[in-house]
Amino acid sequence: MSVDFTSAVVLVTGANGGLGTEFVQQALDLGAAKVYATARTPREWGDARVVSLRLDVTDPASVAEAAALASDVTVLVNNAGVGSFAPIATGADAELRAVFETNFFGAVAVARAFAPVLGANGGGAILNVHSVLSWIGLAGAYSAAKAALWSATNSLRLELAPQGTLVTGLHVGYVDTPMAATATGPKNDPADVVRDSYAALQAGEFEVLADELSVSVKQGLSGSIADLYPQLLAS
Ligand SMILES: NC(=O)c1ccc[n+]([C@@H]2O[C@H](COP(=O)([O-])OP(=O)(O)OC[C@H]3O[C@@H](n4cnc5c(N)ncnc54)[C@H](OP(=O)(O)O)[C@@H]3O)[C@@H](O)[C@H]2O)c1
Repeated sequence: MSVDFTSAVVLVTGANGGLGTEFVQQALDLGAAKVYATARTPREWGDARVVSLRLDVTDPASVAEAAALASDVTVLVNNAGVGSFAPIATGADAELRAVFETNFFGAVAVARAFAPVLGANGGGAILNVHSVLSWIGLAGAYSAAKAALWSATNSLRLELAPQGTLVTGLHVGYVDTPMAATATGPKNDPADVVRDSYAALQAGEFEVLADELSVSVKQGLSGSIADLYPQLLAS
């Protein structure tokens, strides 16, 4: 299971965002025949190979309509997400639910809707955009939803292997996009993250660790909780 972009039809959710725009552009650069650039508010892309499509991942009717219209998709980039870091203990219930609606239930709904499409088109691939925060609970509701999505990705990979669908998860720290505009500290270049992600799909890899932080946090999961969260020792 690996992706040849020259024969691929790619669909990107959240295409107007920082990573989404790169996912669209680099799919074209790799020779994709068609790219569905989906967004809550679709825009013009000025390239005949790009099809703009309305898709709100939290709206079941919108998801179903996109899957019916884009029945030739072979690569799904499940990228749309929101960046709310509501604390688990004190965040508003509505905010916790809203993060899960987009980052977990939205991404899962899109994967479920497109799984039969991918199967009918020979297998294809799904790239689910997680985060290093799937593995470290520093971001409250966001960490929890990305952890849940990581788990769902692991299940989808097993469930869709028989139909030949590659399911790959992306983990990365801060990326220099509007979502991380107020974050301090080092940020990855979205172009590098997308390059690594598409290279992983081309190589048939199940996971993308797009920066050193993701590599070290993943390694830390096999150690002690206190090593992963040194701030616990200070409190
Ligand atoms: N930036 C980071 O530091 C970072 C790090 C790790 C992982 N990620 C993940 O990377 C992905 C892309 O984020 P980004 O950094 O590119 O942020 P971004 O520039 O804010 O883009 C996020 C995109 O998701 C779209 N979106 C939000 N809710 C949606 C919905 N209900 N339906 C459809 N689209 C929706 C937004 O659309 P609108 O334009 O309509 O709001 C926006 O275009 C997200 O899953 C994020 O969690 C980001």
